[in-house]
Amino acid sequence: MEFKFNFFQELDSTNIYAKNMAKNGACEGLCIIADSQTNGYGRMGRNFHSPESTGLYMSLVLRPKIKPQDALLITTAAAVAVSNAIDKISGKASFIKWVNDIFIDGKKVCGILCESAIDIQSGLLDYCILGIGINLTDPKNGFPEDIKDIAGSVFGNECTNNAKEELISLILSNFDSCYRDLTSKNFYPSYKQKCFIIGKKVAIIKNGIPEEHTVCDVNNDFKLITKNQNGDICTLDSGEVSLKWNI
Ligand code: BTN
Repeated sequence: MEFKFNFFQELDSTNIYAKNMAKNGACEGLCIIADSQTNGYGRMGRNFHSPESTGLYMSLVLRPKIKPQDALLITTAAAVAVSNAIDKISGKASFIKWVNDIFIDGKKVCGILCESAIDIQSGLLDYCILGIGINLTDPKNGFPEDIKDIAGSVFGNECTNNAKEELISLILSNFDSCYRDLTSKNFYPSYKQKCFIIGKKVAIIKNGIPEEHTVCDVNNDFKLITKNQNGDICTLDSGEVSLKWNI
């Protein structure tokens, strides 16, 4: 894929900007990067804290010829790409919390949000916006109260411009190599290896109600295989449930 970069000091959200560009015909490979976001958001409409200069907020326009049900492959490939890039550049070990958050030392350092539109005629995806938000360093005023216990950063106090640039470039090249042959899922073994909740007790939240399960596996459709307290085996879809791991 050929990448083209647009950098901004501040945007409401790089995903919103990239979505508008895609609706107006932007090509695959357009990468929108902002130094801060006033309305960064994540899954389930949650706010994504995006203060200036301490994070990497980027959105990539993709035009994959895949079925909507395969869109999950984009987020999971991105999780592997980002996690491997973080490990290489920071020298730390990052892990994936199903389905697509990246953690270091038990703290969330990155969230990934993929938003797609379907082409009615073909039934395939028209475009897909891959949004990646990474806390590079701790925000100057600390993390906000509501996330201070769960959020962390990749580098802690300091991150050079060089490290930021290397991270962007490695994330994109790692992702590109998975994306070329996305439906072969050849990144699945790495995904599973980095999934730290396998074997752990978690709370599965469906319709707002938490239930304790033990995670047995992540299958190669990226569904979570768990056992509930009655011993029933469950196959869970990321679209239906969310998960709290440190119970
Ligand atoms: C999540 O944690 O649920 C996903 C967070 C995704 C945040 C990134 S930051 C860049 C892009 N722009 C947004 O508004 N969201 C994504």
